[in-house]
Amino acid sequence: MRKPIIAANWKMHKTLAEAISFVDQVKNSIPSPEKVDSVVCAPFLFLERLSNLTKDTNLKIGAQNMHFEQKGAFTGEISPIQLRDIGVDYVIIGHSERREMFAETDETVNKKVHAAFAHGLTPIVCVGETLEQREAGSTNAVVGAQVEKGLAGLSNELAKQVVIAYEPIWAIGTGKSSDATDADEVCGYIREVIGKLFDNEVAESVRIQYGGSVKPDNIGEFMARPNIDGALVGGASLEPDSFLQLLEAVK
Ligand code: G3P
Repeated sequence: MRKPIIAANWKMHKTLAEAISFVDQVKNSIPSPEKVDSVVCAPFLFLERLSNLTKDTNLKIGAQNMHFEQKGAFTGEISPIQLRDIGVDYVIIGHSERREMFAETDETVNKKVHAAFAHGLTPIVCVGETLEQREAGSTNAVVGAQVEKGLAGLSNELAKQVVIAYEPIWAIGTGKSSDATDADEVCGYIREVIGKLFDNEVAESVRIQYGGSVKPDNIGEFMARPNIDGALVGGASLEPDSFLQLLEAVK
């Protein structure tokens, strides 16, 4: 049995005061980590503060990106060592917004995945197709290649710990989520690809989230599918009540 994982991706939202208020409101109501892993991926600026605030709680903190090098002349970047040093546990890698707007490639995704594991961070690796790719019937080819290249070179032990987030780009922030059956089929295909890259045990262990207009009132449809183990949530993760409802729905 794979444990569900729900992660909030706040993107570039909230002030420090708003972030602290959110965490203060939810931190004592987060379900047990025996039932669900609960993560808030906040802007870099807030990570240390949130990580201190959540130390003895069931809420884990994640970053939304990082550099793959440990240190060096990379103006404006943040390293995996720096994230780990302030108590961050997860890092989103290869979100479609970073692939589209900030030149993230499958190669940099792969380097970041290796760097995350090397420094004790769990990577949430995002994959997903554009509307044009879906309409051209190439969803599996696109997503399969992203998974293959993104996870290349991992040992089976590490591959098992990867979290994949399948986020069809046309469903992100549009209010138009994927049909749960379609999303489950793509997640099933991702599992097949992982089975070929590694082995069946790895394929059955990896947790795959769906992301794209997930809300408290539709998360149940996704969680009921056999290949979907959680959600990566943008808009509906910004309000404390809504975030707690998402967690309640899966625990
Ligand atoms: O990473 C989460 C995301 O891209 C989905 O955003 O607002 O459609 O839930 P949203």
